[in-house]
Parts: sequence; C-alpha cells; structure tokens
Amino acid sequence: MNYNKKTVRDVDVAGKKVLLRCDFNVPMAKDGSGVITDDKRIVAALPTIQYLLDQNAAVIACSHLGKPAATFESYAKKQAEKGKDAKKEDWEKSLKQLSLAPVAKRLSELLGKDVMMAADVVGPDAQAKAAALQPGQILLLENTRFEKGETKNDPALAKAMADMAEVYVSDAFGAVHRAHASTAGVADYLPAVSGFLIQKELEIIGGALANPKRPLVAILGGSKVSSKIGVINNLLEIADTIIIGGGMAYTFSAAEGGKVGNSLLEADWMDYSKEMMEKAKAKGVKLLLPVDTVCADKFAPDANSQVVKAGQIPDGWEGLDIGPETVKLYCEAVQDAGTVIWNGPMGVFEFPAFAKGTEAVAEALSKTSAITIIGGGDSAAAVQQLGYADKMTHISTGGGASLEFMEGKELPGVACLLDA
Ligand code: 3PG
Repeated sequence: MNYNKKTVRDVDVAGKKVLLRCDFNVPMAKDGSGVITDDKRIVAALPTIQYLLDQNAAVIACSHLGKPAATFESYAKKQAEKGKDAKKEDWEKSLKQLSLAPVAKRLSELLGKDVMMAADVVGPDAQAKAAALQPGQILLLENTRFEKGETKNDPALAKAMADMAEVYVSDAFGAVHRAHASTAGVADYLPAVSGFLIQKELEIIGGALANPKRPLVAILGGSKVSSKIGVINNLLEIADTIIIGGGMAYTFSAAEGGKVGNSLLEADWMDYSKEMMEKAKAKGVKLLLPVDTVCADKFAPDANSQVVKAGQIPDGWEGLDIGPETVKLYCEAVQDAGTVIWNGPMGVFEFPAFAKGTEAVAEALSKTSAITIIGGGDSAAAVQQLGYADKMTHISTGGGASLEFMEGKELPGVACLLDA
C-alpha cells in the first residue's frame, strides 16, 4: 500500500468549504455528565484545524463517538441479545449521551473561538449551517454514527456529506481502519487529502515498518494471542527481536509444555504459538519469552503474590506480570535498539502491585536512544498513566488502527486519499 499521500498543503483550501474527518471518539465520564475524561484526540487534531482556519477555509468537522445504535430497531436488537426490553426513551437517552456537543465545547475552548454545532449529520440543520458557514468559521456535525448508513459505507450518505463541501481532509487516524461513509466513502466524491496527524502517524509508524533504524525490537503484550496474530506474523518478517509479555505469554508457555495454573490461556492458539516460535527460529528473529512470572492467588489488586519460574505457576495461581529476571532481560534488549515498537502491556498494570513489568519497560524505553513508538489503546494508556508519555518519540492516537497498520493490512481511510 502507498502511504505517500497528498496532504492539506497540496490543495488550495482558501475560501473553500472543507469537510474534515477527525477522530473525536474521546472517553467520556460514565455518569452521562458529558465530561470528557481525556481530550488528547481533540488536541491532536488542532494543528490541521488551525491550519485550515488560518488558510481561510470554512471547516465542517465530523467524527463518530462510541457505538450508538442508529435506529430504534438496531437498539432493540442489541437489547434483546442482552435479554433486555427496549424502550424508546432509553434509546433516545443513549443517543444524547453520545452527542458531540461536549466535544464542540472543548474544541472551542482549545481554539479560543466559537465552534458551531449541528443537530444532525446531513439533515436540515447541518445543511443550513454548512451552507451559511463563512471562511474562517468552524462547524461540527453531530455524531456520524447517528446515521445508519455510516458504518455500512452507504454511498448516498457519503455523497450527502460530500455535497456540503469542496474538499475532503481526513485527520482521523484512529478510524482509518474503518471503511465507513465519513472515513472512506466521501473520498469518491471529493478531492481527498490527509491532515497533519495522519501524515505524522504514516511517516513514523510507516517508516518504522518499511525502513526501520535497526535493530528493530517489537514488544508485544496484552491479554490475547488471538488479537495479536496478525501483528506477530507481520513483525516476524520485519523485526530483529520480538518480545512477548502480558497475558498472551502464558499461551506460548503452555505451548512449550509449561504449567500456567489459572493464567489466561487460549488453548486453541497453542499450535499457532508453536508455529510462531518455529518461524522466528527459521527467520533468525530473536523471540524472547518471560523467564519468570509474578503470579497471584486471585485476580485482584490486593491478591497475595509470589515470583516463580516461567512455566511453573502453581495450581490455583495466575500470572499477572512479568518477573524481575524477565524485566532485566527485556530492558537489556531495548537498550541498544535502533527502533522499538510497543503494543500491549506486560501485565495487569491497572493494579499497582502488578504494574512493575510494564513500568520497567516504559522506563527502559524512556532511557534508550532508540526511536520509540507506542501503539494506541492500552499501551498508550499505560505509558500515560505511568508518567512516561513525553519521553516517547511517538504515541499513536489509533488503537485498532495502529494494530492493523502493524499487521500490514490496507487501511481504507488512507487508501482512499490521493497519492502524492
Ligand atoms: C478507536 O477508538 O479506536 C477509534 O475511534 C475507532 O473506534 P471504533 O472501534 O468504534 O470504530
């Protein structure tokens, strides 16, 4: 796939209406108060928004938020799957909680200027406000997933969105793995270019995958082998060293005949894990697995814990973090790296007693002179929570998107943009 895409600098946007797809899928307080608990994705979109406004474009911004049911029928279906009745007022409440209005407010504070909010996506309010929008002004459309055609990439919805503008700019890196109407479909109807965030993510992650400063060390963690198969497979073609941690290490351990007690185990993926170990050997890739484990007598922050050798977890105990010998081994492996890609924590970092492995790796990354790239999602959250965010070369704003990028998959939200 070609990642060399035209950017917002390659098109004339002065005086034009620009449809800007952002990823404003930000975490909100669970109490429905509309409080944004982390505005990083809004902040990450500011350079492109500011550039467009400085160029005197009229900016029609849009994004999804959460996974709303766009119709009452789909809401009722989801409720039925949970064995619950569906009430219209509950559905309407659930939509209200996923309104982008709090994002418009926060964006307005960050930009220091008024951000108008449309009550719909392509309905009468959006149409009227987009038509009246003047150069240098910004309008935010309502949650694109309130339209049932969004996730189906319905051409009629894509065209209706495109008809409001003259140029399409995508800066929604977090959503480029989705072939939806607002992330890919609109590009069929408008000249489509990337914003600065997508450009940066493509340059840094794409560069590390295509032409890494070696040695390239990939650290893969998280709970499941099954969610990382594509990444392990692809990185075995590229990396010099692959480090395995987190819950998925126990499936590898069991595949080698180790005892894993009550640890997370995906028995169906043991053969695959074995295959990956053999592939690594055949390709001369160093595959590092934990040599010891911090295990607990229950999955709880206050569990009793002990350190045991890998593959020797007693019955009734479960591994929740990598052990101190493994920490040493993994930290040494990143010391002389040219590039480190990290995706997935080393243990249950949400519990302080089992965060030491993840913290030590984060600290080692903060000290190495290597290019350090953190995949979005859990690893980004861990690095932020542990206070190492500003020491990393790049923390991706995409969870699923960065994972699919590292899997070597085509990203529809990038493929649809004009080649440079
Ligand atoms: C994300 O949070 O990873 C992106 O915004 C994509 O969201 P989605 O998984 O709901 O498509």
